[in-house]
Amino acid sequence: MNIRPCTDADLSVLCALWRTPGGVHERHYDRQRAGQTTYLVAWQDQEPLGSGVLQWGGCIGSNARTAYPQAVELNHLQVRDLYRGQGVGSALIAVAEALASRAGRHQMAVGVAEDNPEAERLYRRLGYRPTGVVDVSEYDWITAEGAARHETERDQLLVKDLSPTSEQGR
Ligand SMILES: CC(C)(COP(=O)(O)OP(=O)(O)OC[C@H]1O[C@@H](n2cnc3c(N)ncnc32)[C@H](O)[C@@H]1OP(=O)(O)O)[C@@H](O)C(=O)NCCC(=O)NCCS
Repeated sequence: MNIRPCTDADLSVLCALWRTPGGVHERHYDRQRAGQTTYLVAWQDQEPLGSGVLQWGGCIGSNARTAYPQAVELNHLQVRDLYRGQGVGSALIAVAEALASRAGRHQMAVGVAEDNPEAERLYRRLGYRPTGVVDVSEYDWITAEGAARHETERDQLLVKDLSPTSEQGR
């Protein structure tokens, strides 16, 4: 498995092989080009497995920003159905932590929907701790069938302190 920030060449392969309605890859890549994020993608040869976005500007939710102003946030973590449960998500999180550490950042934050206990369990196993901070986000998305949806999501914030040693072995 190879995990790297998305490149121009990667973007065309991504869009061709991992179809996401609503131009998700393009939007994430545009923000990386604007210097706001790193759009990390996991690959097995030419096959995209999953991705996540490192938000250098910090937490998106206003309660999270206020409580943890120094944190870098990892969001939009997603592994394609076929490749879940094989360590791809954990590897993306590890690379994100290593990048943040290397950039001199000391804290990583993730927002987990309250109805997503599986993702919460994964983060807790990797050392993230609950904070009691909750943000409510609203967003629009398009289903694979092309239907518009509007969602309201309650995200609880988990954080992890990144020690310099968290890079060891990577
Ligand atoms: C959550 C997610 C990124 C984890 O990626 P992954 O590659 O499956 O994770 P790993 O293989 O490294 O770790 C497996 C753990 O992920 C968690 N997990 C969450 N959803 C899962 C799923 N659908 N299938 C398998 N594991 C899942 C489990 O806690 C599992 O731990 P377990 O073995 O104790 O059950 C991935 O399942 C996913 O894309 N889910 C849908 C989107 C999502 O919930 N994103 C997180 C937003 S905070």
